[in-house]
Amino acid sequence: MRDHEAKNQAAWNADSDDYQARHAAQLAIHGGLAWGVTQIPETELNVLGDVAGKDILEFGCGAAQWSVALAKLGARPVGLDLSERQLEHARRLMAEADVDFPLIHASAEAVPLPDASFDVVFCDHGAMTFADPYRTVPEAARLLRPGGLFAFNHGSAILDLCWPVGEERAGDRLVMDYFGLYRIEDDDEVSFQLPYGEWIRLFRANGLTIEDLIEPRPPEGATSTYRDAEALAWSRRWPAESIWRLRKSG
Ligand SMILES: C[S@@+](CC[C@H](N)C(=O)[O-])C[C@H]1O[C@@H](n2cnc3c(N)ncnc32)[C@H](O)[C@@H]1O
Repeated sequence: MRDHEAKNQAAWNADSDDYQARHAAQLAIHGGLAWGVTQIPETELNVLGDVAGKDILEFGCGAAQWSVALAKLGARPVGLDLSERQLEHARRLMAEADVDFPLIHASAEAVPLPDASFDVVFCDHGAMTFADPYRTVPEAARLLRPGGLFAFNHGSAILDLCWPVGEERAGDRLVMDYFGLYRIEDDDEVSFQLPYGEWIRLFRANGLTIEDLIEPRPPEGATSTYRDAEALAWSRRWPAESIWRLRKSG
């Protein structure tokens, strides 16, 4: 493992129990089928579309709230995560929901599965936040069948530019350099971000066509266990999250 993978794995193993206790209710408000820190329903954003009968890889699944919900809709999900404690929570939620699907303990930067195994690769603040995009984007493209969908939600570049490292929330000033945006590290974890043009060139270099860049805006009065009122007011003014919707050519 590279150093950021080891650091993030240790951080997620240590925080997993508290994280699930803090956010379980938020992640359940639309039965697991909702995006981001304010859980905007998939029925509203329609990112994944019809999932019945599809092979779907959740790229950094955590406790697999999404994959459990997709299994109930007739999809064939596989949950992948680097944290063994997060996968233990996934096993618990699968048993509670009486669904069964494979869980893989691995990094999204080197997935131990054959090429062209999936119709959909996706995550909601999963590996596409915490793993190196120069490794994950080629992996997602390799794992998809021709015509497959790669969709992921992560914090926006604009949010990262306004978020001083180590602070609780973003402010209303640009504090990070845009050029060179890549690896962002604080005491606890490492995350990754790229300038918009760099994301686009990386997708194109891996045979991925951009279908949409959704910038979800929380509804007025939204609440979240992930954000306080000040941070939610920020995300009413500027896009705090980005959902890329990409199609593998072929
Ligand atoms: C915020 S959770 C996402 C899961 C779920 N959607 C949620 O919101 O709770 C982030 C997950 O990414 C996982 N992760 C971090 N780096 C990873 C990597 N390189 N490969 C796979 N998973 C990774 C963490 O272990 C964690 O479970």
